[in-house]
Amino acid sequence: MSRFRAAAAVLAAVLLPLPAGAAEQVNVYTYRETKLVQPLFEAFTKDTGIAVNVISASSGLEQRIKAEGDKSPADVLLTVDIGRIDEAVQAGITQPIGSAVIDETVPARYRDPNGHWAGISMRARVIYASKDRVKQDAITYEELADPKWKGKICIRSGQHIYNNALFAAYVAKHGEAKAEEWLRGLKANLAQKPSGGDRETARDVAAGKCDIGIGNTYYWALMMNNDPDKKPWAEATKVILPTFEGGGTHVNLSGVLLAKHAPNKANGIKLIEWLAGEKAQQIYADANYEYPIRPGVPLNPTIAGYGKLTADSLPIAKIAAERKTASTLVDKVGFDN
Ligand SMILES: [Fe+2]
Repeated sequence: MSRFRAAAAVLAAVLLPLPAGAAEQVNVYTYRETKLVQPLFEAFTKDTGIAVNVISASSGLEQRIKAEGDKSPADVLLTVDIGRIDEAVQAGITQPIGSAVIDETVPARYRDPNGHWAGISMRARVIYASKDRVKQDAITYEELADPKWKGKICIRSGQHIYNNALFAAYVAKHGEAKAEEWLRGLKANLAQKPSGGDRETARDVAAGKCDIGIGNTYYWALMMNNDPDKKPWAEATKVILPTFEGGGTHVNLSGVLLAKHAPNKANGIKLIEWLAGEKAQQIYADANYEYPIRPGVPLNPTIAGYGKLTADSLPIAKIAAERKTASTLVDKVGFDN
């Protein structure tokens, strides 16, 4: 069985048990875990009468939609990180959302200037600092290259999408040459070869292998509240919201895209608009420990406990434009070696 046929078979298996006679439906392809999105979609169906069919996967959704071509059942792609959002657009599987509601609700810097994607929540890339060994409560991204941190920093691979976006933001802010110098400085400060994920970074700070680690805001909250085994890693660390010199904290998006051949386009747009609404924003941000994209929606208490987020003003599309440069620099400085 070819990969395409295998994918098609999986899709059929998921799509077949549609409620008979369900006139209104929308098909969502997502990288998010089903248990995270199910309560949200149930609320949408209750509000609108539109049934939501969810195709969940941990990788390959863009390729799958591309392979399905104009027969793809995909209406909406719900994904995380500008890296994946950008890959979907580059794959040619999206179309402009074209929604005045989205344009009014989602701040311009969290939307594609061409309308192909919109953020629905945010995560910040921050510092997990040892409570015992780090006295300061503020830090800049620039400072991470300061020799005072030599042998004290832990981080996952420089090619991981989360770091790629952070490094791309650095390129967008300071230019390629300064970004290279910074990456060399950061690399020189690492306690160990980049490895693991953000949770393992917290683990290594807790174990004393490093004083500060770089991780996303939601992992710390998940460890603290939802994962008793890893709670000690959160308890040993404090979250510091770093800022760029003269700027704010680097944020990334979880976002939505409208599929190019969406068979239920109107319902897809309805869902996207609903996701930016007040009720969905609260459910979604709270369940995922993310920052709501819609101004004025209350934060989850753990997230609020990090302090007031001043998100950097750099448009996310500008970060997307520097992804390739950032990736090239990571290889050039041997960041992961
Ligand atoms: Fe993640």
